Amino acid sequence: MKNIAFICLGNICRSPLAEGLARAAAVAAGLDVRFDSAGTGNWHVGRPPDPRAVAVAARHGVDIARLRARQVRPEDFQRFDLLLCADRDNLGALARLRPRDAVAEVGLLLDWAGVEAGGEVPDPYYGDDEEFLAVFDLLSRAARALIERIAEDSAATGRR
Ligand code: 4NP
Repeated sequence: MKNIAFICLGNICRSPLAEGLARAAAVAAGLDVRFDSAGTGNWHVGRPPDPRAVAVAARHGVDIARLRARQVRPEDFQRFDLLLCADRDNLGALARLRPRDAVAEVGLLLDWAGVEAGGEVPDPYYGDDEEFLAVFDLLSRAARALIERIAEDSAATGRR
């Protein structure tokens, strides 16, 4: 797993937070994995993350201010090994977009990270700062668990 993209609806709250957190966790673990994020919707394309997401990340030493929203494209199914969705709506949207020659594995982030089977990252967009903090904490756990899983998988592959 070398190229991973996080997917949510707007690409301004959950997935840019996941991207920033996963990148930080990978650097801390010395893992060479590239991360990106995208939204299934196009309303916020070109915009920076939601100021509430930028603020909660900054308070915890993670800088996501320079990220810019983009929409998922068919090429993402070739460019990435893994597309990790925040919720089931995102998963459904990707199933509709998936080209025949797709190579990317697609799954729910919390599932894949082993944080919560079948779990979804709640959309904080219409919530308050407290909800952004709860989402940050959840994504922080997910990012660390994801990096641990990738590190274990690559160690196991190395031993084979
Ligand atoms: P995200 O949050 O999917 O976590 O980026 C949202 C951002 C914007 C909207 C919905 C969710 N929106 O409806 O504009």
